[in-house]
Amino acid sequence: MSITDTSTSPTAADSGAPAGAVFRADNRYRGTAETSAERVDTILRALLGAVHQVVSDHEITYPEFQAAKSWLMEVGEGDEWPLLLDVFVEHAVEEVASRSRQGTKGSIEGPYYLPGSRRLPAHCELPRRADEKGTPLSFTGQVRDVNDTPLPGAEVDIWHADADGHYSGFAPHLPEGNLRGLVVTDDEGRFSIRTIRPAPYRIPADGPTGRMIAAAGRPPWRPAHLHVMVRAEGHRQLTTQLYFEGGAWVDDDVARATKPELFLRPVADGEGGLVQRYDFVLERA
Ligand code: DHB
Ligand code: FE
Repeated sequence: MSITDTSTSPTAADSGAPAGAVFRADNRYRGTAETSAERVDTILRALLGAVHQVVSDHEITYPEFQAAKSWLMEVGEGDEWPLLLDVFVEHAVEEVASRSRQGTKGSIEGPYYLPGSRRLPAHCELPRRADEKGTPLSFTGQVRDVNDTPLPGAEVDIWHADADGHYSGFAPHLPEGNLRGLVVTDDEGRFSIRTIRPAPYRIPADGPTGRMIAAAGRPPWRPAHLHVMVRAEGHRQLTTQLYFEGGAWVDDDVARATKPELFLRPVADGEGGLVQRYDFVLERA
């Protein structure tokens, strides 16, 4: 199947609404943004100032203003705020967070992380269907600190789309936990994970986020990617994504979340599969 075949694309209801429900249930962020009245005032002023400037510069009309209201209401009704914010805004927040980070570059988390993946030994295969499609990929590496000391017992929490670009937990036809795992590094901080190469991801076309992207004439695609969160005691958690150099959409990511340091160049294993080594470097917390 070609990556532009949309016949198996998830619908907005398939992925937008579950992403909303998952975010609501995720208590990682509750009460973490304690902000002074002064900072709220400064940010609100800047935000509204930017909006007013757009209205003025582009001479927004009443029909356009009312259409924008309807569209924003639909984003809420479709529970697509997590999808929309992760695609249009998260990269800017991540770039700010990255300014103070040493070690491996971060990238956006996106809307499809699920906590509680199965814990797997360092050398493992991700849970997959018996007939899982896609090119086999052996993803190996080592987790180290910034002084090159290996980190045994580190967690490589990995999740990615299947060969049709769908995520388990969001596309209803996929078994729970498919292509997700929390891999624990061995005594030398190493891991080797057998999985398949994911396909590019298409923003659901029928929801308000997808319709806005289409209305702007932009391609609704993210390049194929592996998501990882890497954790080790006493170290700052890394959330990032790895992309395939030369793959479709790597230079035109709708979510603008690629970085050259995060490009993979897998090589053939001689048996129809691919191998890739990538090491993660964490800084101290
Ligand atoms: C979105 C989807 C992703 O797979 C991702 O990594 C980032 C954002 C989205 O649909 O918003
Ligand atoms: Fe993703």
